[in-house]
Amino acid sequence: MELAVADRLAGAFLSGSRLRAGSRLMPLGRLIAMYLDFYGLKEQPFNITPDPRFLVYTDGHREAFDSLLYGIKSRKGFIKMVGEVGTGKTTLCRAVLRTLPNDVESALILNPAMDEIQLVSAIMQDLGIPVYCNDRMRLINLLNAYLLDQNRAGRNVVVVIDEAQNLPPAVMEQIRLLSNLETDQDKLMQIVLAGQPELENRLGRNELRQLRQRIMVSARLEPLGRKDTGYYISHRLKVAGANGDSGFDSSAVAAVYRTSHGLPRLVNKICDLALLAGYADRSRIIGRKHVRQAISELEGVI
Ligand SMILES: Nc1ncnc2c1ncn2[C@@H]1O[C@H](COP(=O)(O)OP(=O)(O)OP(=O)(O)O)[C@@H](O)[C@H]1O
Ligand SMILES: [Mg+2]
Repeated sequence: MELAVADRLAGAFLSGSRLRAGSRLMPLGRLIAMYLDFYGLKEQPFNITPDPRFLVYTDGHREAFDSLLYGIKSRKGFIKMVGEVGTGKTTLCRAVLRTLPNDVESALILNPAMDEIQLVSAIMQDLGIPVYCNDRMRLINLLNAYLLDQNRAGRNVVVVIDEAQNLPPAVMEQIRLLSNLETDQDKLMQIVLAGQPELENRLGRNELRQLRQRIMVSARLEPLGRKDTGYYISHRLKVAGANGDSGFDSSAVAAVYRTSHGLPRLVNKICDLALLAGYADRSRIIGRKHVRQAISELEGVI
């Protein structure tokens, strides 16, 4: 829960409600512990961190997951995944990396706002290759030697670059050059580019057509549909320990869907606060009223 919102909420919901501890407002940590206990949860179900344990496989997410895994395992070289803000790209990348077999080495670059040398160094460091210098050619030779070693040992290597819509064109070009590291038979390194729809625009530029043509697998993450939103909410509650006594009724799900447009991060933010509103009301079933309270608290924030 975002602190600023939580603070306001604690004030809004708690003053005058049954959630006061004596005459003082409760510290947030204690309040959360109490509401988790009330709903029979072991942890917060709607955190906005990209925790792959909570991944819900809607058809769309399953398809994107399978595409990424297929692209990596069958050494397709470039793989692209595009999706709106908060649709689950980072979560999905992490889930894919957790699923890879032991014979795949991986690097995850979360913030690629770097120059070419920094990016190559970051990839090497994540792969566990010591980086002794900052000479581009030397670094690439070292990386190439590592990739050939891995290939000889029958191992595959994948680099996931998240937020790829922020890559400057020169760095994109460097990435394309990295993908030239190959033997006659194999792509030595699979490169996943994950990013918001701006990535698509960027790749559409004429100067990036060589990179664009090398993309062999493309995946797209769409917002959740209404039915999936309900499934998503109940699945996350279950992962957090809910035993079925608590949940969102269908009017609540409809209200969440209407405001979030099925964007998982927004679904999480609304549901998180709706649980607090339900708790203030001592209701284990979250209804439209609680969701509305949550949405009005989030006004201007979502
Ligand atoms: N399929 C899913 N199952 C469970 N949680 C999900 C799913 N998709 C997204 N989420 C949740 O939504 C939130 C946002 O997801 P994530 O950070 O992965 O989105 P993103 O597409 O990387 O966003 P951005 O474009 O801002 O980088 C996270 O809390 C994540 O756990
Ligand atoms: Mg992300």
